[in-house]
Amino acid sequence: MKTILDVQNLCKSFDNTQVLNDINFKVEKGEFIAIMGQSGSGKSTLLYNISGMDRPTSGNVLLCGKDISKLKDEKISEVRLNQMGFIFQHSYLLKNLSVRDNIVLPGFKSGKLSREQVNENVDAIMEKTGISNVADHDIKEVSGGQLQRAAICRALINQPDIVFGDEPTGALNSGTTKEVMDIINEINNDGTTIIIVTHDARVASRANRVIFLMDGNIHNELILGKYKANKINKSYREKILSEWLEKQGF
Ligand SMILES: Nc1ncnc2c1ncn2[C@@H]1O[C@H](COP(=O)(O)OP(=O)(O)OP(=O)(O)O)[C@@H](O)[C@H]1O
Ligand SMILES: [Mg+2]
Repeated sequence: MKTILDVQNLCKSFDNTQVLNDINFKVEKGEFIAIMGQSGSGKSTLLYNISGMDRPTSGNVLLCGKDISKLKDEKISEVRLNQMGFIFQHSYLLKNLSVRDNIVLPGFKSGKLSREQVNENVDAIMEKTGISNVADHDIKEVSGGQLQRAAICRALINQPDIVFGDEPTGALNSGTTKEVMDIINEINNDGTTIIIVTHDARVASRANRVIFLMDGNIHNELILGKYKANKINKSYREKILSEWLEKQGF
């Protein structure tokens, strides 16, 4: 197994308040990790600090062996554009652009792939996520679930090494959540590493590993990957996770 992300002694303070206390963990290539914990435990802060959206107060974040925590803004933007994908609770797509144009934008901006490759890639991922039929629609004309799939496509356009999500299903109903999680599982099965923050045990039960944060510390972690995620085991994984979460006081 190859380590893709190595978080070492990560601390983050705002003013004089420490929000993350000496966080250490490694992520192997191809893992799917869910970060859980009470509101205010530091989940989003952790995600932002390991994905170059914010800078740790101290500690290191190694992406493919390279420390990204001290890169200049310009360099970190490049790393984020080329090597990372992001999915948030709300899709943050640009109004007055079609679904397709929203997805290809970071592809053209990056230059990592040729225009031809970006165009091929966009067709393939829209097909995969089931939104080819709305490719030319304005984003005001599509459903919440379609918007979130478009956001997933945008996150994937540059074939990132790792995709980060902060409550990616937080604004979706349970049916759409399931559809979006099926897609995220599929992307992970194709080899992309995934790290998402979620409050939803059903969402987290899709991950190989659940990290539980409490007051800015890794309180515990649960390996779910050993319970294979086939149909029969799906509810079993959910059961194991809910029992474990209860023990963490969640
Ligand atoms: N930019 C900031 N400035 C000051 N304090 C902050 C900032 N961002 C987060 N905090 C504080 O850090 C703590 C952790 O916040 P964070 O958003 O990481 O929690 P969370 O676990 O994601 O919560 P939620 O589940 O509600 O999204 C909170 O006490 C919050 O008030
Ligand atoms: Mg949060």
